[in-house]
Amino acid sequence: MYLVSRTETFAKLFFIVSFTGLFMYVALAFYSFHTAYTTVSQIGKFQENSKIKNYDAVVERFEKDLKYILVWSSNSEQAETLLQYEGQEAFIERDCPEINCYITTNKTILNDDYVNFDAIVFNMSIFWQPGGFSKLPERRAKRQKYVFYGMLPSDSHPICNLRVENFFNWTWTYKFYSDIYSPFIEVKNLVGNVVAPNRNVIWKNDLRTSTKSDAVRVSTKTKAVAWVMDKCGPKIYTMFGLTKLRKALKQFNLTLDVYGCGNLNCPEGGCAEAIQKEYYFYFAYDGSMAEDYVTTEVLKAYLNDAVPIVVGGADFTRFLPENSYINYHFYTEDKLAAYLHYTITNPAVYNAFFNWKKYYTVNKADEFKGYCDLCKLLNDKKKFNTFSTYENFRSWWYYGSLKDKCLPKGTTKLSEITAYLNETVRF
Ligand SMILES: *[C@@H]1O[C@H](CO)[C@@H](O)[C@H](O)[C@H]1NC(C)=O
Ligand SMILES: *[C@@H]1O[C@H](CO)[C@@H](O)[C@H](O)[C@H]1NC(C)=O
Ligand SMILES: *[C@@H]1O[C@H](CO)[C@@H](O)[C@H](O)[C@H]1NC(C)=O
Ligand SMILES: *[C@@H]1O[C@H](CO)[C@@H](O)[C@H](O)[C@H]1NC(C)=O
Ligand SMILES: *[C@@H]1O[C@H](CO)[C@@H](O)[C@H](O)[C@H]1NC(C)=O
Repeated sequence: MYLVSRTETFAKLFFIVSFTGLFMYVALAFYSFHTAYTTVSQIGKFQENSKIKNYDAVVERFEKDLKYILVWSSNSEQAETLLQYEGQEAFIERDCPEINCYITTNKTILNDDYVNFDAIVFNMSIFWQPGGFSKLPERRAKRQKYVFYGMLPSDSHPICNLRVENFFNWTWTYKFYSDIYSPFIEVKNLVGNVVAPNRNVIWKNDLRTSTKSDAVRVSTKTKAVAWVMDKCGPKIYTMFGLTKLRKALKQFNLTLDVYGCGNLNCPEGGCAEAIQKEYYFYFAYDGSMAEDYVTTEVLKAYLNDAVPIVVGGADFTRFLPENSYINYHFYTEDKLAAYLHYTITNPAVYNAFFNWKKYYTVNKADEFKGYCDLCKLLNDKKKFNTFSTYENFRSWWYYGSLKDKCLPKGTTKLSEITAYLNETVRF
């Protein structure tokens, strides 16, 4: 549209200039000259501008209608992490459905006042920084949307401080029931459409069909289960009766090999290669039982020809192709060991775990998509103008007993209990 109107302007200009040339000496000349002169000077101005800004064409289209997003930061370190997305470019480059958004961590760009932003995103990590709560904004505009951004598991990161109640208008998390749903992984069909995570996904119906092949998919595999720990901590390791599972596996001459965190070291080719070449199964546990929390941990199996044994609080049928994984919680340790042994010794059954490859790909989700969705919401006039707030945010985020999580076990000190009730105290 813009190009067309510029061409038209040139055509007009050409006409006016020729007209002016021809009739310069007649009585009308003065008026015509004046018109031509103003048109020329305006075009000159515009060209000057477009030299300054690369994205001028886009800005020109939207400058009056840009939605401004501030990512709140309480220190400069965080401001730096976000700099890669600063501005509007990322929305254009990533081809978001709506591109008229501008992100920044600079609180001063809109008349030096953060109340002018359309949305302020609060990355939950700021609540774990010293003094994070004392650095929250002190003023807010009614029309502004405060957005909670949370990708850390709620069970190990409950938020205790009362300050978060009735504070956020929108949520942007890995939980299905968020205003902006942002999963860690995504399953696509072969056309490239995302089919999962989805609350009502219907998987292809032949995923359980055994193949006729007697050859194991990857013939070099000889070991049962691998687990590569990225996050260390004694708590994770002792959970879920892993000792019991190891014992049960031993009855079938099978092992669970743990890599990292002071256990085995990955061989030279790296952990991924070891999983791919040697292991039938991968123990996909990311240290949390939080609902809907399915992380990239499962990709260590999916991307390396191993079958994930999934552990966690999610309804995995909404996340992963049917018969592509084993749910740890459906078995006792003894039964699981027997089942693993059965599939390893029956290649047709084991190979069927890979039927999903005929229809799907499983990959890391696009991290920027959440920003695209936020931009879309800000453009949704109805949603933007509808009042919304999370009155009991703390129990929306974490369903369990906050007292158990927030107070040190067996607290009897009055000062600790009053501190819990005192909204100015940071937990
Ligand atoms: C923030 O924006 C202001 C202009 O509004 C600018 O003067 C300042 O340098 C910017 N700060 C940073 C850290 O980029
Ligand atoms: C949130 O904070 C974490 C930790 O500082 C950082 O790794 C992540 O990139 C941040 N995400 C967003 C969307 O700001
Ligand atoms: C147990 O497995 C190891 C290699 O994983 C093999 O060398 C050994 O012969 C097996 N023992 C039995 C009794 O199957
Ligand atoms: C956002 O939430 C706050 C606190 O509940 C409320 O005062 C404000 O009106 C809400 N704004 C919108 C636009 O929903
Ligand atoms: C709450 O905290 C403030 C500041 O730390 C303190 O002045 C006040 O006495 C506290 N109130 C209670 C009930 O602990």
